[in-house]
Amino acid sequence: MARPTTSFTCNACGAHHSKWSGRCEACGDWNTITEDTPLSAGPGAKSIGAKRGTPLHLTDLATEEAPPPRTLSGMPELDRVLGGGLVPASAILVGGDPGIGKSTLLLQAAARFAASGLKTLYVTGEEASAQVRMRAQRLGLGDAPVQLAAATALRDILTTMETEKPQLVIIDSIQTMWADTVDSAPGSVAQVRAAAHELTSFAKRKGVSVILVGHVTKEGQIAGPRVVEHMVDTVLYFEGERGHQFRILRSVKNRFGPADEIGVFEMTGSGLSEVANPSALFLSGRGEPSPGSVVFAGIEGTRPVLVEMQALVAPSPHAQARRAVVGWDSARLAMVLAVLEARCGIPFAGLDVYLNVAGGLKISEPAADLAVATALLSAREDAALPAETVIFGEISLSGALRPVGQTENRLKEAQKLGFTAAIAPIGGKPGAATGMTLNQFGDLAGLVGDIFGAG
Ligand code: TYD
Ligand code: MG
Repeated sequence: MARPTTSFTCNACGAHHSKWSGRCEACGDWNTITEDTPLSAGPGAKSIGAKRGTPLHLTDLATEEAPPPRTLSGMPELDRVLGGGLVPASAILVGGDPGIGKSTLLLQAAARFAASGLKTLYVTGEEASAQVRMRAQRLGLGDAPVQLAAATALRDILTTMETEKPQLVIIDSIQTMWADTVDSAPGSVAQVRAAAHELTSFAKRKGVSVILVGHVTKEGQIAGPRVVEHMVDTVLYFEGERGHQFRILRSVKNRFGPADEIGVFEMTGSGLSEVANPSALFLSGRGEPSPGSVVFAGIEGTRPVLVEMQALVAPSPHAQARRAVVGWDSARLAMVLAVLEARCGIPFAGLDVYLNVAGGLKISEPAADLAVATALLSAREDAALPAETVIFGEISLSGALRPVGQTENRLKEAQKLGFTAAIAPIGGKPGAATGMTLNQFGDLAGLVGDIFGAG
């Protein structure tokens, strides 16, 4: 007989342990470890059209009725990030820094969904109902048919959901919710996990969609265990710099659509307004062509976006030269610098290097490599690139340039915004973007020689 495996979990941080101890090694808290009680084989859950516990064939489902349609909020930026509207009975987590605009976004979304016919309940654990109503009035949503509840006790909220039968429930925020079955303070990992579990399972059972708001810690993670991210279908992050008016809603996980899709918003005096053409916005602050500044033609999710990459290279007064990056991966910057040095003979030793993605956007695409390399060279050589040129392409460690996807879409977006030329790897096809001059290169050294007359 197989030995029964027992496992233990820390209620404070969610860490798993193979044996019990008085103190959790992961977080250092005392008396927080409890034994997990595994589910024994029982009657099993009932799935559609099957006997309890009996699996279905994939093809059996084809005869079931079509899935209920998604609801559109009428905010195209939000609908696209959700993968084409709100899926019934889905659970969504919206994370972001305090003060970034989560409550504003969700109040506006609640009003839109309610206007589209969804019975919507907005639960706030952070503000009084009167404050939410005042905010709604300021946003011009005073007469939206949204039900409001100021509550933190999970039991009360579940009772309200049971009696009122809303189709969409927004919980602002999951950190303020409190389950009386869990013996720790609101906001603790155990409470957050319990509340998220209760709400998402209630939602699945009753066919209600829930949106959970989660604050993000300084380390950039949604406060609470990672398990909350696993419990929900969709995880969205609301990002932006406090000083900038742009806000970006990004899907980092989505069971119902593409991940890495972005929606762009602008924070105004009367709430968030949608930005239909983000490229124009990201490039709006751009002046005359200057050394170190290039325009990257990127793809975010399913959409082309042009952004300005800015580099500054200066002799370092320190023994160890500085490398500072905002909006891009510092490990990739180190790689591009190493390739420039090893394959093109352009050293950056003794030089401080700063790289900034303008507008507060965070870029993760490898296609930005070439734009970064060109910005660094332009800054180092103090030579500006022609203003009407966009750049994209991946750099391999050998110094070869690799073609990237969606060349045509990148070029079309650039053409739409008045650019006339592009620097890109050999291999991409311009397709319908016939007005663009393509300068294609096979390796970085070739580009350096051609554009900067060095290398
Ligand atoms: P809020 O939605 O409360 O943030 P969160 O829920 O993520 O903590 O937004 C707070 C900030 O947004 C606050 O600093 C003021 C600003 N704001 C505007 O600029 N315009 C507006 O119309 C609203 C409602 C808020
Ligand atoms: Mg809030």
